[in-house]
Amino acid sequence: MDKNAVLQELNRVLGYIESDKFTKEDAAKITQDTIDNYYNYFNTGYMDFRKSITPDGATIEWSDTPEHINDINGIPYIDCIGGFGTYICGHRNPEILRYVKKQMDRLTLSSTELLEPLRGYLCKVLAMITPGDLQYSYLTNGGAEAVEMALKMAVLYNGPGYFISTVHGFHGKSMGAVSMTGNPSFRSPYLPMIQQVQHIEYGNASALETAIRNLQAVGEKVTAFIVEPVQGEAGCRIPPAGYLKAVREICDKYGVVFIADEIQTGLGRTGYLWRCNMEDVTPDILAFGKISSGGIIPITGIISRKHIFEKSGLADNPFILGSPTFGGNALACSSTLATINYILKNDIPAMAAEKGAYFMKHIAEIQAKHHILTELRGAGLLIAMEFETSDIGYEVSKEIFARKVLVAGTLNNAKVIRIEPPAIMSYESIDTVLRVLEESISAVEKRL
Ligand SMILES: Cc1ncc(COP(=O)(O)O)c(C=O)c1O
Repeated sequence: MDKNAVLQELNRVLGYIESDKFTKEDAAKITQDTIDNYYNYFNTGYMDFRKSITPDGATIEWSDTPEHINDINGIPYIDCIGGFGTYICGHRNPEILRYVKKQMDRLTLSSTELLEPLRGYLCKVLAMITPGDLQYSYLTNGGAEAVEMALKMAVLYNGPGYFISTVHGFHGKSMGAVSMTGNPSFRSPYLPMIQQVQHIEYGNASALETAIRNLQAVGEKVTAFIVEPVQGEAGCRIPPAGYLKAVREICDKYGVVFIADEIQTGLGRTGYLWRCNMEDVTPDILAFGKISSGGIIPITGIISRKHIFEKSGLADNPFILGSPTFGGNALACSSTLATINYILKNDIPAMAAEKGAYFMKHIAEIQAKHHILTELRGAGLLIAMEFETSDIGYEVSKEIFARKVLVAGTLNNAKVIRIEPPAIMSYESIDTVLRVLEESISAVEKRL
């Protein structure tokens, strides 16, 4: 190691973090450094699949304001996808940031040895706002980690056996979570993974009952069924009405733990505080994430019903499930407490429902004029536009990006473009997005 060289490099970079203003030369230097560093030290493929990589360089994310992500040159992009739905309260919402800054000046992480009050208060509030008798929370750092904990909790409660999941479902990419994920491109390189998993058709409750019955008929145990109340990553796939209720009944009938993965749908995104509320259903374990960070400090977790917790043995051995060093740290808890406060006070679910309906009405009008937009699906502010082919979708997302609006849709997955904006987005910005969508679709259609 050349210590002087490292310190010199660190000095330069820390200077960038400290500085408020860049010269054009600084911005160009940081842009080129970032491209080189991603190619040489991060992930070459990551670069090649991005629509933000243009022949003349790349867009470098540097700052944000409630509705926008600004590049290093100060150019704002309207954010319609940040963190795949993380920013429902907007970016660095001042009413959330205020509490996080206070907490940052007091205590950030936790000893993990002493008792820390914010963790306790957050778990209490989670029990107050989640469906039915969900009560005991377990706090983690990322979505996949929360899913791992949900799977392990189900095993502790119900004993080892089969997991049932759904085709196209997305539950993360750690070994257990990706075993549940129903997308071959994420699974295939790791096969065989967790062996006792069956994937069934999404939205089909009788497929669940058949799978459980068949497994039980040959002497197998079925531990749990994991499902997203609306499939997010799969492109906003909405199950038929009554699906979650039927799942609840089937799981009760056959003694199967019902895990609802609300990591993307939870805390207001679909127009309900929890999507399970729509059918008045209480899962045995509910996983949450994304929005719970407040867009500021990552935090995810699960919450389980009392009888699940009690039989899982966690009371006797609290470390059997996991003991993440950072899970539920004080700073993250402050962020989530302030986020929940903001969501409830401002009725974010209602905002998402209302603005989602506005988006849907106007995108449907665009769809009526443009044949390449084949399908439109939406649940609150979780919206998906499906195009004839992935190539067309990618071209559309590039056109949208060129007009300074950020949506999901990358080279390896662009048939469906997802729109998941903050609920606090102004109608003026929404109208801009709608105009950009129409212009972009028209531009691609003309070229075909
Ligand atoms: C429903 C669902 N579960 C799990 C995950 C995994 O979360 P993470 O990317 O934080 O691991 C995601 C992420 O998009 C998700 O949408």
